[in-house]
Amino acid sequence: MPGFELIGKEELAGLQDIFETSNGVLFPHGFDGLRNGRYRVREFERKFSAKIGSAHAQAVTSGTVAQVVAMLAMGVKPGDEVITQAFTFVATVETILMIGAVPVIVDVDDTYNMDPVELEKAITDKTRLIVPVHMLGNPASMDEILAVASRHNIPVLEDSCEALGASYKGKYAGTLGDIGIYSLDFGKTITTGEGGMIVTNNSGYYKFMKEFTDHGHENNPALPRGRDTRSMYGMNYRMNEMQGAVGMAQLDKLDQIVSANRRNKKLLKDALNTDKIQFRNITDEAGELADTLIFHFEKASMATEFVKQYNAAGYGTKNIPDAIDWHFAGTWNHMFAGVPAYRDSWKTAWQRTADLLARSVALPVMVNTTEEETARHSEAINTILQGI
Ligand SMILES: Cc1ncc(COP(=O)(O)O)c(C=O)c1O
Repeated sequence: MPGFELIGKEELAGLQDIFETSNGVLFPHGFDGLRNGRYRVREFERKFSAKIGSAHAQAVTSGTVAQVVAMLAMGVKPGDEVITQAFTFVATVETILMIGAVPVIVDVDDTYNMDPVELEKAITDKTRLIVPVHMLGNPASMDEILAVASRHNIPVLEDSCEALGASYKGKYAGTLGDIGIYSLDFGKTITTGEGGMIVTNNSGYYKFMKEFTDHGHENNPALPRGRDTRSMYGMNYRMNEMQGAVGMAQLDKLDQIVSANRRNKKLLKDALNTDKIQFRNITDEAGELADTLIFHFEKASMATEFVKQYNAAGYGTKNIPDAIDWHFAGTWNHMFAGVPAYRDSWKTAWQRTADLLARSVALPVMVNTTEEETARHSEAINTILQGI
């Protein structure tokens, strides 16, 4: 699954290089004499946007911050409605609440991503933004979602935090809507420890993001940083040079990570007995990140029994069910006190999603797994399935 499996000497060499050639300058801007012309975060941004096929990339401190900054760049204001989905990480909704906007949360379909039909039903005259989430490496149904968005003239922010490296009909996830965000935390496709990236083709959004994440600095090349110009206030959401150096080494491994995922997932999936399970609907088989294998049973009791025996055999699940409390809105009573639509109904609001998740299991697919390990794994799963 993630870049942490391949973290090693290339990342270490990148870190060492900061000390050997740039006098240990860890700040991403200024210190021009000391750093000998190397700006690693800026290089990482350029490399990232070139790889992903986007005009601009802005590095930030996390995927969570990436969403906040992206929504502010798009002009989302307190009271605006932002539509997202019931199966996602808490950050998707926390960030909407943090800027005072109103989360409108819709059910997922058998892609485990936003159901475009539910999306269209949820649109009102207050809807300001749509945030589909490409959960666990499977791009959302973007053709349908973008069609709804364009019919209603509403921008789309793709949460690609869990889908860096996945593509949909030939374009990388994160480059299909108006802005895409990625997480580079330690569990993601590539990692900088913590970190995030925002991509867009819109130069107005990019200008805002660049300045807002750096206290409003315009980074005017003709001026020393202490005399820099500004026209708005901002925050400090800057990535540092160590993250930039590690990020570049990790980005060089992206293709290797994705192709290992795809090989390992195919081996596992093809070996499973499908009499009692149904695989997740993948929107683009050739493009999925393939870092997770999801299937569901007819009844929740079958999934519960499967997980019991799977854990007893020494294997662990991923998100469903082991971290479902952090990924399903139907467990988030702590968030909804200030949201009248969900204050009382959060437990029952997303029954379709609740039912699907209760019947489902998500298994991690790792980069470094050998064929022998996958064969043992599939055998163990088939044995359990036989007895269910
Ligand atoms: C779908 C989704 N959105 C947002 C985030 C937040 O990213 P970060 O952990 O970098 O803040 C995550 C991280 O797990 C995520 O999975």
